[in-house]
Order: sequence, then C-alpha cells, then structure tokens
Amino acid sequence: MKKDFAILGIESTCDETSAALLIGGRQLASNVIYSQIEEHKKYHGVVPELASRAHAAKIATVINEALGGHDIDCVAFAHGPGLPGGLMVGRVAAQTLANFKKVPILGVNHLEGHLFACEFEDGEVKNPLTFPLVALIVSGGHTELWYVKGYGNYKVLGRTRDDAAGEAFDKVAKLLGLAYPGGPQVSAQALQGRRDAVDFPRPLLPGTWDFSFSGIKTAVSYYLRDHKNVSVPDVCASFEQAVCETLVKKTMLAAEKYKVKHIAVGGGVAANSLLRELMCAEGKKHGIEVRFVPRKMSSDNAAMIALAAYKKLQYAGPNALEKKWNININPNLRVKNWGK
Ligand code: KG4
Ligand code: ZN
Repeated sequence: MKKDFAILGIESTCDETSAALLIGGRQLASNVIYSQIEEHKKYHGVVPELASRAHAAKIATVINEALGGHDIDCVAFAHGPGLPGGLMVGRVAAQTLANFKKVPILGVNHLEGHLFACEFEDGEVKNPLTFPLVALIVSGGHTELWYVKGYGNYKVLGRTRDDAAGEAFDKVAKLLGLAYPGGPQVSAQALQGRRDAVDFPRPLLPGTWDFSFSGIKTAVSYYLRDHKNVSVPDVCASFEQAVCETLVKKTMLAAEKYKVKHIAVGGGVAANSLLRELMCAEGKKHGIEVRFVPRKMSSDNAAMIALAAYKKLQYAGPNALEKKWNININPNLRVKNWGK
C-alpha cells in the first residue's frame, strides 16, 4: 500500500452516524460523529426505526464533512453486527461513494473496530497492540471475551447469554429514573454511594467464558420493589461494583488460562472508571499489561472502522485489496479470522 493510502470509514450500526478519514493507517484526518442520543433519550434506549431515519438524514453530511475534499483509495463500512436499518444506510452510502470514486469497498466487523480503537492516541495510531492478548469488548450491544493471537486471528471464548453490560447499565438507569445512556449516569451517582451497600450477584458461570447480566438487573428491580427510601447512589455503587468485578474476574481468569501477558479492553463501557481501576489493579497483581481504549475513542466512531480496514488490508495476505470482501450486511455478524 502506498504511504498516504486514504481510507474513508463509515459507522452506522447503532445510534452514532460517523465517518472518518485515516491516512497511511496512522493519521486521523477527521472523525465526524453525529450522536442520536437526543432522538432516543425519552425512550431510555435506542429505537431502531428512529435510528434508521436519523442515519439516513445525516449520513451524507457527515461523509462530506469527513472527506473535506480529500481523495480516497478505499471505502470501509461496518457491515455488522448492528441494527439492520442503520447497517443498510451505511452500506448504500459506502457503495455509492466507492462506485463514484472508483475505489474498492470493504466490510468491517464493528467489534474488531472496538478492539483496534485501543491503538489510537491523540488522533494518531501510536500504540500497536501486543499479541497474544485477551480482549474484552464491552458495549451497549455486546460483551465478548476473545483470545487474540495476532491481527485477524481470533478465538471467541465467550459472550453474554442475555444482556450486554452496557445494556444492564442502561436498564438499571431507567429503573432508577436516570437519563439515557445509563452508564455515565449510574457511574456518576455511584461516586456518592457505598459499594457494599447491597450484595448484588456476581454471575461467574463457572466452566464457561460466557457472561450473563440480566440477573443483576433483575436483582436491582426486586431490591427497588422490596425497599422503601432507597439510596440511589448506594444502589448505583453496588450495581457497578457487581458488574465490574464480574468483568474483571472473568477476563483475568481467561488471561491466566491462556497464559497471556496483555489484556485489551474496548467498547463504550470501557469508559467506566471503576472498570479501569479494578482491571488495572488486578493486572498489576498478576504482571499483566492492561490496555484500555482512550475514553474519546471508546464509544462508536468511524475512525475505528477505518483502522480495522487498514489492518485487514495490511495483514490479510497478498492481494488483500483485490479480494472480494463481503459487503453484505449481517446484523448478527460474528468475528472471523481473516485467512478464512
Ligand atoms: O460502544 P457503544 O458506544 O455502543 C455500542 O456498540 O453498543 O457503547 C454504548 C454503551 C451504552 O450502553 C452506555 O451506557 C455505555 O456504553 N457506557 C458506559 C459508560 N459510558 C458509556 N457504561 C458504564 N460506564 C460508563 N462510564
Ligand atoms: Zn459499539
């Protein structure tokens, strides 16, 4: 690939409409993000139909702004997992642009984007991941644990069987009358609360690497039903502690089992301060380097999609650009090895 190879990334899997321009796999020329939070706020969660409409309304403007008149060599878009309507908007926009510019088009897994976002720092790709590592991808739609041997070389160890961790934060926020998205709200309340006030369950599901967070959420709803004059900060602090301890424990167990010295954590929930604190403390104890995605890059954005595409082109073998990369959308897309 030439030194200034320019990739335009497009992200529209959930409730952010984003486009970014990555030059030479290193320099982020733009990362335009239109957040739909205002549209979804009053429903305490993402309404798929509203999300599709907002993507359709904003995508052209966002792409135009990200391009800034620059030439491009490739268009990449997140082709799953995500909400079908949003994915279709992303695909149509990407195909139109790629055809117009006569450049190749590439479908990228949104969750791989969350992992590679860990390499950004101050608008540049500065910190290459060190393999092998265990990755925790933890967001509003997903909670997955991977053993990663190298770029595009994955073994999915486990995933949530019900709610994603971020979804649990959002649902608990709703139960407590806090605003959407719930993660930052619950976390802010938790700062004033006691973490041992309520003993919420830590669902470790021994013998598997899977997660399950709907039980903690249900325990919170029963607690609220059965108690009068509850302290919102205490409930938030105890809930956050239960979720974060569970995430840290399983990730550390996986790191030990697979004998890795590196852990990478990406996705919206990776912005959580308690998760960062607990994971880093455990990492220190076990001599494991823990890498968190920079907070600014933790939630959905197209820079991570452009970077995932660049890595794919770089590491997927000779003639990677000429390969017929799958550009069909897949709302339930699973992470796959690039060789296959
Ligand atoms: O990665 P993301 O932007 O979108 C998905 O791909 O799902 O993640 C959004 C999720 C929301 O559920 C939000 O509540 C959660 O990340 N989140 C947090 C924090 N900031 C965002 N959860 C806990 N603590 C936070 N500080
Ligand atoms: Zn995401």
